[in-house]
Amino acid sequence: MSQNLYAIIPAAGMGTRLRPATLATPKELLPIFDRPSIDLVLEEIFLSGINHVVIVTSKRKPMIREYLEGRVDESFENWMPKVVQTRGGKLVPKIEFVYQEEALGLGHAVYCASQHRPQSDFAVVLPDDLYFSDPETPALGQLVSSYRDSGQSQLGLMPVSAEELELYGAACLETPEIDSNRSAISALVEKPKRGTSDARHAVVGRYVFSHPINSHLREGEKGLGGEIQLTDAIAKMLASSGGHGVIGVTLQGERIDAGTKVGLLRASIREARARGIPIAL
Ligand code: G1P
Repeated sequence: MSQNLYAIIPAAGMGTRLRPATLATPKELLPIFDRPSIDLVLEEIFLSGINHVVIVTSKRKPMIREYLEGRVDESFENWMPKVVQTRGGKLVPKIEFVYQEEALGLGHAVYCASQHRPQSDFAVVLPDDLYFSDPETPALGQLVSSYRDSGQSQLGLMPVSAEELELYGAACLETPEIDSNRSAISALVEKPKRGTSDARHAVVGRYVFSHPINSHLREGEKGLGGEIQLTDAIAKMLASSGGHGVIGVTLQGERIDAGTKVGLLRASIREARARGIPIAL
């Protein structure tokens, strides 16, 4: 059933790929040009019409909470760009924090937040995956509008080569497609070994879940790498509904993986240029 969604941002990881910068600053606060990266993710969530956000973090990263509580207390106009104020209307942000003290995996991180509202549908946004899109159609908003149409769970997808598949959750799609950007998902596997999957779409860090996902997250079985994988919970939900009910949406916009050093730099240049600041390289 279509409901008011809240959004979960998993932000408890220690950012090992971005050391040494992350020894001093949580990766979610590293700058994308002149803004902490979490601001770009929150902007996308607000532009998608969601004002209630739950951040899953760690007591070892108190700066995220300190920063955001300071921001929420300020005026919204000083925090978010004008486009959010215009499109968001009278949006009043509500930001909560929960803690994941053990690095048990993405599925566990999401459940740390979602277990408190077992009957609510929700979105998940992975803050490493930055999307630069038209503000009229933010990446998460593309999933939210498909969810509003169908009430079903939605996964953000991008086409990838066979070589890249092993870096991502891999999705096989049913034919015929629903429309040019959307297909029902027939199978999902987390980071398949090369040559073991026919999938040609990767799951990127944007999800909208109907609340039955919670019972599969609660099971908390360990998967790849000994971690509780979000992809495994989605695959179980798919199996329990007879292989129906999860829709893949190929997202429009430019995705940059800001969880890598080069990606962080590219995202800064992209953000500066989007703001009309020429960068000569
Ligand atoms: C996570 C998910 C994976 C997804 C990816 C998108 O992996 O487990 O399914 O495809 O994010 O960025 P990670 O990049 O955290 O290893």
